[in-house]
Amino acid sequence: MGLKIVSIVGARPQFIKAAPLSRVLREKMKEIFVHTGQHYDDNMSRIFFTELGLTEPDYNLGVGSGTHGYQTGAMLERIEEVLIKEKPNFVLVYGDTNSTLAGALAAVKLHIPIGHIEAGLRSFNRTMPEEINRVLTDRCASMLFCPTETAVKNLRKEGITQGVYLTGDVMYDAALQFGKIAEKRSTILSDLGVTPKTYLLCTVHRVNSTDFYDNLKGIVQALIETEEAVLFSLHPRTKKFLKTYGLIELLKNSSNVRLIDPVSYLDMIQLEKHAKKILTDSGGVQKEAYFYKVPCITLREETEWIETVKEGWNILVGTDSKKILQAIETFLPSSNQSTLFGDGHASEKIVDLLYDYVRSVSEKDQQWKNSSPQSH
Ligand code: UD1
Ligand code: UDP
Repeated sequence: MGLKIVSIVGARPQFIKAAPLSRVLREKMKEIFVHTGQHYDDNMSRIFFTELGLTEPDYNLGVGSGTHGYQTGAMLERIEEVLIKEKPNFVLVYGDTNSTLAGALAAVKLHIPIGHIEAGLRSFNRTMPEEINRVLTDRCASMLFCPTETAVKNLRKEGITQGVYLTGDVMYDAALQFGKIAEKRSTILSDLGVTPKTYLLCTVHRVNSTDFYDNLKGIVQALIETEEAVLFSLHPRTKKFLKTYGLIELLKNSSNVRLIDPVSYLDMIQLEKHAKKILTDSGGVQKEAYFYKVPCITLREETEWIETVKEGWNILVGTDSKKILQAIETFLPSSNQSTLFGDGHASEKIVDLLYDYVRSVSEKDQQWKNSSPQSH
């Protein structure tokens, strides 16, 4: 039986999440890969396809940047066209970006079942665009693949219990699969002339950290005041706001901060593994800090990855420079680690569940193909 899945990605973390899953998926089913074009710089997109052995997108929708309304709307329209043409049995979406929500909305209106990878995560902060995307995508999904027990509980509290699976985290799969390869192939430490455990690694890109002057200033202030060496991988959003607010010169003129362009995943893994501490507002980077047993200072007031905080490997400090500096100086993990994110085989579990589900609904799917609401 020819089962066809459309996978929708568009932003940097989604290429990384899709890499281990797509490999397993393709052994059992036909996968059509759709890139919305949300991220388009070579170092935010192309580099991951090359390095992670991801298949070239069958469709690149070229949506690019813009307001939430433009971006999500343009994706919705273009994804819908692809789905009407391809008539897949199932749609897979990843994480919490506008590409995720657009994919889910396009599919649910065409009565195509949806699988959500990284379902059930909540920050309980409705001012985050990601939180809205998560909540709505989970409402649309037929299969909700949860990376953690917390995610399952979050869904239960919202009354979502059908189709919920605790599978572990595909980012942990990726970290295990690519961790060793990174060790062999990446030359980033020598390229940058840094030695292990002598630098802090920083990434920032959330709306709350970048778009508000006081918050971005707080982060910049801490980075230039610490005596530690800092490597700061600049997300394009952050670069834009640092320039807009006239803060980039403070970093460029400081003796301890080094600004670098976004790096490839293998290089990032190497930088993470060998960092003394990590400062970040990224979801993925918080987890990777935990995977590689590096203390994580999170520049937010809340996190979806609350277990990493409870286990003492992550501390939430927000964007206040004094709190950040204090954490840089004093924060040290307080406990051993447990297996919060699964066993490194989340991708296989998800694909097995997916295959059984898709087979069982394929008759209904056939009906959809014959009577899809294409004209509405
Ligand atoms: C998006 C996601 C966020 C995710 C992050 C991963 C949404 C609402 N946000 O945030 O959840 O954590 O990706 O990195 O979906 N830009 C470039 N080149 C690019 C891409 C973006 O210059 O290749 C610049 C543009 O000025 C753009 C800005 O970055 O306006 C923000 O990009 P956008 O995709 O809207 O959101 P992110 O901040 O990247
Ligand atoms: N990442 C990368 N290069 C960088 C910064 C981050 O490859 O210069 C990777 C990082 O290792 C993680 C993912 O990007 O796997 C996280 O993506 P991001 O922080 O953009 O988004 P989030 O996880 O917050 O949604």
